[in-house]
Amino acid sequence: MENVKLAVLISGRGSNLAAIAQAIDAGTLRAQIAVVISNRAEAPGLDFARGRGIPTVTLAPRDFPSRDAFDAALAAAINAHAAPLVCLAGFMRRLGPAFCAAFPRAILNVHPSLLPAFPGLDAQRQALEHGVKVSGATVHFVIPELDAGPIVMQAAVPVFDADTVATLSERILVEEHRIYPEAIRRVIEGGWRIDGPRVVFDRPFAPVR
Ligand code: GRF
Repeated sequence: MENVKLAVLISGRGSNLAAIAQAIDAGTLRAQIAVVISNRAEAPGLDFARGRGIPTVTLAPRDFPSRDAFDAALAAAINAHAAPLVCLAGFMRRLGPAFCAAFPRAILNVHPSLLPAFPGLDAQRQALEHGVKVSGATVHFVIPELDAGPIVMQAAVPVFDADTVATLSERILVEEHRIYPEAIRRVIEGGWRIDGPRVVFDRPFAPVR
Protein backbone atom coordinates (compact mmCIF):
# COMPACT_ATOMS: atom_id res chain seq x y z
CA MET A 1 0.00 0.00 0.00
CA GLU A 2 1.31 3.40 -0.95
CA ASN A 3 1.97 5.79 1.90
CA VAL A 4 -1.01 8.02 2.56
CA LYS A 5 -0.29 11.67 2.02
CA LEU A 6 -0.97 14.01 4.92
CA ALA A 7 -1.49 17.75 4.93
CA VAL A 8 -0.43 19.01 8.36
CA LEU A 9 -1.80 22.41 9.39
CA ILE A 10 0.03 24.39 12.03
CA SER A 11 0.12 27.83 13.60
CA GLY A 12 3.14 27.65 15.87
CA ARG A 13 5.74 25.45 17.49
CA GLY A 14 4.97 22.29 15.56
CA SER A 15 5.84 19.68 18.17
CA ASN A 16 2.90 17.52 17.09
CA LEU A 17 4.09 17.88 13.50
CA ALA A 18 7.50 16.64 14.67
CA ALA A 19 5.89 13.72 16.50
CA ILE A 20 4.07 12.70 13.31
CA ALA A 21 7.31 12.99 11.32
CA GLN A 22 9.16 10.89 13.90
CA ALA A 23 6.52 8.16 13.78
CA ILE A 24 6.89 8.09 9.99
CA ASP A 25 10.68 7.87 10.36
CA ALA A 26 10.34 5.08 12.91
CA GLY A 27 8.13 3.12 10.54
CA THR A 28 5.18 3.03 12.95
CA LEU A 29 3.13 5.33 10.71
CA ARG A 30 3.02 4.49 7.02
CA ALA A 31 2.33 7.96 5.73
CA GLN A 32 4.02 10.87 4.06
CA ILE A 33 3.75 14.51 5.00
CA ALA A 34 2.95 16.01 1.60
CA VAL A 35 2.69 19.60 2.77
CA VAL A 36 2.79 21.69 5.94
CA ILE A 37 0.49 24.69 5.84
CA SER A 38 0.58 27.54 8.34
CA ASN A 39 -1.62 30.57 8.82
CA ARG A 40 1.34 32.34 10.45
CA ALA A 41 4.55 32.99 8.50
CA GLU A 42 6.60 33.05 11.72
CA ALA A 43 5.45 29.61 12.93
CA PRO A 44 8.57 27.72 14.07
CA GLY A 45 7.05 24.50 12.76
CA LEU A 46 7.61 25.81 9.23
CA ASP A 47 11.37 25.74 9.87
CA PHE A 48 11.10 22.14 11.02
CA ALA A 49 9.30 21.26 7.78
CA ARG A 50 11.76 23.15 5.59
CA GLY A 51 14.64 21.45 7.37
CA ARG A 52 13.22 18.12 6.31
CA GLY A 53 12.50 19.18 2.76
CA ILE A 54 8.75 19.06 3.25
CA PRO A 55 6.88 21.54 1.02
CA THR A 56 5.40 24.43 3.01
CA VAL A 57 2.64 26.90 2.31
CA THR A 58 1.79 30.01 4.30
CA LEU A 59 -1.65 31.51 3.98
CA ALA A 60 -2.16 34.74 5.93
CA PRO A 61 -5.83 35.31 6.75
CA ARG A 62 -5.44 39.05 6.26
CA ASP A 63 -4.69 38.43 2.59
CA PHE A 64 -8.20 37.08 2.04
CA PRO A 65 -11.43 39.04 1.90
CA SER A 66 -13.45 36.53 3.90
CA ARG A 67 -13.26 33.39 5.97
CA ASP A 68 -14.73 31.42 3.09
CA ALA A 69 -12.05 32.75 0.73
CA PHE A 70 -9.30 31.72 3.16
CA ASP A 71 -10.86 28.28 3.59
CA ALA A 72 -11.12 27.86 -0.19
CA ALA A 73 -7.43 28.73 -0.63
CA LEU A 74 -6.57 26.28 2.13
CA ALA A 75 -8.56 23.52 0.44
CA ALA A 76 -6.88 24.32 -2.89
CA ALA A 77 -3.40 24.09 -1.30
CA ILE A 78 -4.26 20.72 0.24
CA ASN A 79 -5.67 19.40 -3.03
CA ALA A 80 -2.66 20.69 -4.95
CA HIS A 81 -0.59 18.26 -2.88
CA ALA A 82 -3.14 15.48 -3.30
CA ALA A 83 -3.37 14.90 0.45
CA PRO A 84 -6.48 12.90 1.39
CA LEU A 85 -6.01 13.34 5.14
CA VAL A 86 -5.75 16.71 6.88
CA CYS A 87 -4.12 16.82 10.32
CA LEU A 88 -4.59 19.94 12.40
CA ALA A 89 -1.59 20.20 14.70
CA GLY A 90 -1.89 23.35 16.76
CA PHE A 91 -3.78 25.09 13.95
CA MET A 92 -5.37 27.99 15.80
CA ARG A 93 -8.12 28.84 13.41
CA ARG A 94 -11.65 27.61 12.98
CA LEU A 95 -12.60 25.99 9.71
CA GLY A 96 -15.96 26.70 8.15
CA PRO A 97 -18.69 24.25 7.11
CA ALA A 98 -17.68 24.31 3.43
CA PHE A 99 -14.10 23.33 4.26
CA CYS A 100 -15.28 20.54 6.57
CA ALA A 101 -17.67 19.29 3.89
CA ALA A 102 -14.86 19.25 1.33
CA PHE A 103 -12.90 16.74 3.43
CA PRO A 104 -15.55 14.50 4.97
CA ARG A 105 -14.22 12.27 7.75
CA ALA A 106 -10.76 13.28 6.66
CA ILE A 107 -9.78 16.07 9.06
CA LEU A 108 -8.24 15.23 12.41
CA ASN A 109 -7.37 17.52 15.32
CA VAL A 110 -5.48 17.11 18.57
CA HIS A 111 -6.73 19.01 21.60
CA PRO A 112 -5.12 19.27 25.04
CA SER A 113 -8.08 18.14 27.17
CA LEU A 114 -10.43 15.23 27.53
CA LEU A 115 -13.16 16.55 25.25
CA PRO A 116 -15.94 17.49 25.59
CA ALA A 117 -14.39 19.11 28.66
CA PHE A 118 -12.59 22.37 28.04
CA PRO A 119 -12.94 23.10 24.32
CA GLY A 120 -11.43 26.25 22.90
CA LEU A 121 -8.41 28.20 23.97
CA ASP A 122 -6.35 27.59 27.11
CA ALA A 123 -7.72 24.12 27.76
CA GLN A 124 -5.01 23.43 30.33
CA ARG A 125 -5.79 26.64 32.21
CA GLN A 126 -9.48 25.79 32.11
CA ALA A 127 -8.70 22.38 33.62
CA LEU A 128 -6.72 23.95 36.47
CA GLU A 129 -9.40 26.55 37.10
CA HIS A 130 -12.04 23.84 37.36
CA GLY A 131 -9.93 21.84 39.79
CA VAL A 132 -10.22 18.60 37.87
CA LYS A 133 -8.06 15.70 39.03
CA VAL A 134 -7.62 14.21 35.56
CA SER A 135 -7.19 15.83 32.17
CA GLY A 136 -5.56 14.65 28.98
CA ALA A 137 -5.45 14.73 25.22
CA THR A 138 -8.01 14.00 22.53
CA VAL A 139 -7.72 13.24 18.82
CA HIS A 140 -11.01 13.72 17.02
CA PHE A 141 -12.52 14.21 13.61
CA VAL A 142 -13.20 17.84 12.86
CA ILE A 143 -16.68 19.18 12.32
CA PRO A 144 -17.63 22.85 12.08
CA GLU A 145 -18.40 23.03 15.82
CA LEU A 146 -15.26 23.94 17.76
CA ASP A 147 -13.33 21.01 19.25
CA ALA A 148 -16.23 18.67 18.69
CA GLY A 149 -16.58 15.71 16.35
CA PRO A 150 -16.21 11.95 16.77
CA ILE A 151 -13.34 10.97 19.05
CA VAL A 152 -10.64 8.66 17.68
CA MET A 153 -8.36 8.38 20.74
CA GLN A 154 -7.93 9.88 24.16
CA ALA A 155 -5.30 9.62 26.86
CA ALA A 156 -5.62 10.78 30.45
CA VAL A 157 -3.03 12.37 32.72
CA PRO A 158 -3.28 13.22 36.43
CA VAL A 159 -3.59 16.83 37.52
CA PHE A 160 -1.58 17.63 40.63
CA ASP A 161 -2.22 20.37 43.17
CA ALA A 162 1.15 21.92 42.42
CA ASP A 163 0.57 22.02 38.66
CA THR A 164 0.92 25.20 36.70
CA VAL A 165 -0.34 25.68 33.14
CA ALA A 166 3.21 24.93 32.03
CA THR A 167 3.64 21.68 33.96
CA LEU A 168 0.19 20.37 33.05
CA SER A 169 0.69 21.33 29.40
CA GLU A 170 3.98 19.47 29.33
CA ARG A 171 2.40 16.32 30.78
CA ILE A 172 -0.49 16.47 28.32
CA LEU A 173 1.84 17.17 25.40
CA VAL A 174 3.66 13.87 25.99
CA GLU A 175 0.33 12.13 25.46
CA GLU A 176 -0.53 14.26 22.43
CA HIS A 177 2.71 13.19 20.81
CA ARG A 178 1.99 9.56 21.61
CA ILE A 179 -1.65 9.32 20.54
CA TYR A 180 -1.73 11.62 17.51
CA PRO A 181 0.48 9.49 15.26
CA GLU A 182 -1.28 6.42 16.60
CA ALA A 183 -4.71 7.86 15.82
CA ILE A 184 -3.60 8.79 12.31
CA ARG A 185 -2.35 5.25 11.83
CA ARG A 186 -5.67 3.81 12.93
CA VAL A 187 -7.63 6.10 10.64
CA ILE A 188 -5.38 5.31 7.67
CA GLU A 189 -5.57 1.57 8.28
CA GLY A 190 -9.35 1.63 8.05
CA GLY A 191 -11.65 -0.88 9.67
CA TRP A 192 -13.66 1.81 11.41
CA ARG A 193 -16.96 3.53 10.98
CA ILE A 194 -18.69 6.47 12.52
CA ASP A 195 -21.82 5.48 14.39
CA GLY A 196 -23.60 8.58 15.64
CA PRO A 197 -21.14 10.38 17.89
CA ARG A 198 -18.78 7.40 18.09
CA VAL A 199 -15.88 6.09 16.05
CA VAL A 200 -16.25 2.32 16.16
CA PHE A 201 -13.20 0.20 15.35
CA ASP A 202 -13.73 -3.30 13.98
CA ARG A 203 -10.51 -4.65 15.40
CA PRO A 204 -9.13 -4.51 18.90
CA PHE A 205 -6.53 -1.85 19.28
CA ALA A 206 -2.89 -2.89 19.63
CA PRO A 207 -0.94 0.19 20.65
CA VAL A 208 2.49 0.80 19.19
CA ARG A 209 4.93 2.40 21.64
C1 GRF B 1 -1.01 21.53 21.34
O1 GRF B 1 -1.17 21.50 22.74
C2 GRF B 1 -2.33 21.25 20.67
O2 GRF B 1 -3.10 20.31 21.33
C3 GRF B 1 -2.98 22.60 20.73
O3 GRF B 1 -1.95 23.52 20.47
C4 GRF B 1 -0.71 22.94 20.85
C5 GRF B 1 0.15 22.93 19.65
O4 GRF B 1 1.46 22.53 19.94
N1 GRF B 1 -4.10 22.67 19.83
P1 GRF B 1 2.47 22.22 18.76
O5 GRF B 1 2.45 23.39 17.81
O6 GRF B 1 2.05 20.94 18.10
O7 GRF B 1 3.79 22.09 19.46
